[in-house]
Amino acid sequence: MSNATALRPHAESGTFGNAEPLLTVSNLSLGVRRGSNETKIVDDVSFDVNAKNRFGIVGESGSGKSMTLRAIAGLLPRGVEILSGQIAYRGRDLAAFSASERRALMGPEIAMIFQEPMTALNPVKRVGDQIAEGPRRHLEMSRKEARELAVDMMAKTGIPDPARRVRAYPHELSGGLRQRVMIAMALSCRPKLLLCDEPTTALDVTVQHQVLRQLEDLCDDFGAALVFVTHDLAVVNQTCSDLAVMYAGRLVESGPVKDIFRDPRHPYTRGLLDSAPDFDRPNRELLAIPGFPVNLADRPVGCSFAPRCSFAQKSCLTRSPSLEVVAPGRTAACFRTEELFQEGSE
Ligand SMILES: Nc1ncnc2c1ncn2[C@@H]1O[C@H](COP(=O)(O)OP(=O)(O)OP(=O)(O)O)[C@@H](O)[C@H]1O
Ligand SMILES: [Mg+2]
Repeated sequence: MSNATALRPHAESGTFGNAEPLLTVSNLSLGVRRGSNETKIVDDVSFDVNAKNRFGIVGESGSGKSMTLRAIAGLLPRGVEILSGQIAYRGRDLAAFSASERRALMGPEIAMIFQEPMTALNPVKRVGDQIAEGPRRHLEMSRKEARELAVDMMAKTGIPDPARRVRAYPHELSGGLRQRVMIAMALSCRPKLLLCDEPTTALDVTVQHQVLRQLEDLCDDFGAALVFVTHDLAVVNQTCSDLAVMYAGRLVESGPVKDIFRDPRHPYTRGLLDSAPDFDRPNRELLAIPGFPVNLADRPVGCSFAPRCSFAQKSCLTRSPSLEVVAPGRTAACFRTEELFQEGSE
């Protein structure tokens, strides 16, 4: 039986899936406060990730993907705060964890891979020592054991000559190798949940493909669930089983990747798919989504996507749609989802 995530429109609706979720994000809102002004950058986002699930989050720049991921990891930048909602790991509210419990969680249970490894790696420390740090602290390994594990992890992520490269500094490695070091570091304590923020965007396509394959294989071997943020729908198609689409800080569609790709239920998702190259149909015309993303500090009253949406009606400009179940395991936040569905099935 598939362990694919069942997604919920709202926390109180309960889950559709059988397995207890590993991660539950419920009605999460994040914001930036300046004086008496509050700007919501993530608004009422809910989703579940089950053990071993591969969950993708897509959306254009500024849609709140990274902030959502950082909130889960407890790594929000200064100035961004949780306004409301809950993030639970194995059923326990992360806000209830003490600082030391939280530290104990990061590494053996939850790990994160960032987009740009140079900002996440320590430039003056050998990469092997950086990989060994987690196992020494969390798994109580000796220096020698942790060093051996670092070499092993580097080999598993496809780094050639790991026994030598374990002594390298980050600047001595290529971008692809640095990203593999980040993966080795994140997986060194065998976490159950791996958060990836565009881990391959900075790599060229062939290296990206290899790194993704390696990442998937390691997650399979270690039984880790994956939350994978990306701009790239081809990467989602390759890597994820389930998907959440974000627009302007809100979740606008969610469900199994194959269903969403075949039959998107939100006009923004359709726009994303129409604007991405399709290798099965190389002659298809690529259609850009017209207009610009909304200014979050001055969000329109109605649907945030309405000003750019060819399906929008007058009422879409005055009322904001909530996320509703549109098919088993699928949700969409659109008043016009039925029309979209009918047009797609014609
Ligand atoms: N440190 C910060 N302080 C205040 N606002 C921020 C900060 N970082 C990001 N934001 C704002 O939060 C919103 C969401 O940003 P986020 O980084 O999550 O977007 P994203 O979907 O990851 O975009 P991208 O695809 O470009 O990485 C944006 O409007 C951004 O301007
Ligand atoms: Mg981002």
